[in-house]
Amino acid sequence: MSGEESAAQRAERLRASWVANATAWTEAVRTQAIPSRRAGTDAAIVDAMARLPIGRVLDVGCGEGWLARVLADAGHAVAGIDASAPLIEAARGAAAGVGAAVPPHFAVCPFTELAGRGTALGGPFDAAVCNFALLDADVATALRAIHAVLVPGASLFIQTVHPLAAAGTAYEDGWREETFAGFGGDFLSSMPWYFRTLGSWVSELTGAGFQLRSVEEPRAAGQPLPLSLLLIATRG
Ligand SMILES: C[S@@+](CC[C@H](N)C(=O)[O-])C[C@H]1O[C@@H](n2cnc3c(N)ncnc32)[C@H](O)[C@@H]1O
Repeated sequence: MSGEESAAQRAERLRASWVANATAWTEAVRTQAIPSRRAGTDAAIVDAMARLPIGRVLDVGCGEGWLARVLADAGHAVAGIDASAPLIEAARGAAAGVGAAVPPHFAVCPFTELAGRGTALGGPFDAAVCNFALLDADVATALRAIHAVLVPGASLFIQTVHPLAAAGTAYEDGWREETFAGFGGDFLSSMPWYFRTLGSWVSELTGAGFQLRSVEEPRAAGQPLPLSLLLIATRG
């Protein structure tokens, strides 16, 4: 892709990559082929959310649904949304296999449609989670939509790439490209994603009406850099 690609074109390529790569992604997640996930990011988000009282939880950008299944197993009433129809199909296919009394409900829903669909999805929700799912430059739209479907005082969990670990030579907001090299499998498309600094994450959250409660930096033994950034906020 040329340097003249617009934000809208990148957002469209981002969306399309999750359709093209749905099979490879599902396989990578379900076989634990992603090293950072094995090393601790899966455990980090599960542990953080284990502190939540049982309630209604929205998994925003749920992918093939692994976290929604874990949360439903723990007793939460869970809805998972994602823009990728084949990933939602994979999530639905695995939902029946959970031990939960009430399996998670999954819907194809881009973040831009979330605010208007909260009640139909089972909201308002007591908590929401975005596990490596806020990838677009326009994160404000997604955060405002999440705010609209949460009850006041609800918790928001965002796990994302740690800005220190991903900065490379430029610690500044901007588009990057994920090739999925190292995940194994047959990924058919690279993915544009938007890098943001810690300061940008905090101001986006605050601007969308959330108060930052905790910043966690999961580590793996012997590794020099954190595995991820975990932001926990309260809906104001
Ligand atoms: C890295 S995957 C993470 C999936 C899942 N949360 C997990 O932990 O395995 C990112 C997910 O976000 C979804 N996504 C990205 N942008 C989205 C948008 N604007 N609306 C809905 N889903 C989106 C993608 O389709 C993809 O399933």
